[in-house]
Amino acid sequence: MPRESGAGERRVALVPKVVERLTGKGLEVVVETEAGLAALLPDQQYTDAGATIGDPWAADVVVKVAPPSDEEIARLGRGTTLVGFLAPLAHPEVIQKLDEAGVRAFAMESIPRISRAQSMDALSSQANVSGYKAVLVAATESTRFFPMLTTAAGTVKPATALVLGVGVAGLQALATAKRLGARTTGYDVRPDVADQVRSLGAQWLELGIEAAGEGGYARELTEDERAEQQKRLTDAITGFDVVITTALVPGRPAPKLVTAEAVRGMKPGSVVVDLAGETGGNCELTEPGQTVVRHDVTIASPLNLPAGMPEHASELYSRNVSALLELMIDDEGRLAPDFSDEVLDKSCVAGKEAK
Ligand code: NAI
Repeated sequence: MPRESGAGERRVALVPKVVERLTGKGLEVVVETEAGLAALLPDQQYTDAGATIGDPWAADVVVKVAPPSDEEIARLGRGTTLVGFLAPLAHPEVIQKLDEAGVRAFAMESIPRISRAQSMDALSSQANVSGYKAVLVAATESTRFFPMLTTAAGTVKPATALVLGVGVAGLQALATAKRLGARTTGYDVRPDVADQVRSLGAQWLELGIEAAGEGGYARELTEDERAEQQKRLTDAITGFDVVITTALVPGRPAPKLVTAEAVRGMKPGSVVVDLAGETGGNCELTEPGQTVVRHDVTIASPLNLPAGMPEHASELYSRNVSALLELMIDDEGRLAPDFSDEVLDKSCVAGKEAK
């Protein structure tokens, strides 16, 4: 496990507890010195767990969180296996470079969303962190309380929170906003999530636009559908104190759900937290990575929220990584990925033929 080099990336691919599990299975784990420091995990904890501190790039398998830089790709020898978030749809050029370097690369994003692979589903584990954190950002930026308060000085009404896009992050955002006392509402183009939304004590916003796509994901809307959706959402959004957006379509720019007109219609002091900043944002006025105030509404678009909660985000991610590793290792501890297994077949995005 090398030290993560990306700016602000505080997560690690292996926590000591998981290292212990892997060394217990007969694997040798090599950790770069100070690789865990940003997650408050000193070298000593790794060596206590059975790892050695050394050159991680010489290993058979290199495990990372963020996609590798060019320098890191250059350090991966031919035939090395790489595991991490590799953004194969957003950055196919990285996959191409890995392929040319003879690296066999497994992208955590490409693991199919099937029951058997749930323990490896890093998109979900990290989306849970994002959904939770998004609500905390909203509560911090808000000029209002989330819960109803009855005090000697009078009663405060609960905040109303709308979550647009109710996948894993959206469901966690609904649950967290509810726990803080807000009145919650969810909306998605996949109609089958309505029951999940209701089961979290939230209302379902029915707009009459459905766009379920392949593999459980949403499809991109047509021009007409998009215009209709924006119109209906613009009317609905103005009544909410907090809007949290998480809508994504794999490999496509984020759909624009919150128009400038919708923001203009919101009450001053309201908050939009846009989790889709990395692919352009769900709000027309979003500036990815920034918090801006437009028409007296705060629009926050934090990037890589899971990196801000490195302890639990790393624990979960590390278990996802180890579950995938265990799938490609035979009983004698040898690396022997069987590509007739669809989890390995689909997640291997480069160098499948490499030896
Ligand atoms: P995602 O991060 O790709 O997208 C977030 C949400 O935005 C989705 O619910 C999507 O339907 C919604 N969305 C996209 N375009 C929209 C639009 N124009 N308007 C409104 N909403 C829009 O989704 P995520 O969280 O990765 O989940 C994807 C699928 O994977 C879901 O069906 C989820 O239930 C499924 N899943 C399955 C698992 C399993 O092991 N069986 C585990 C985790 C997720």
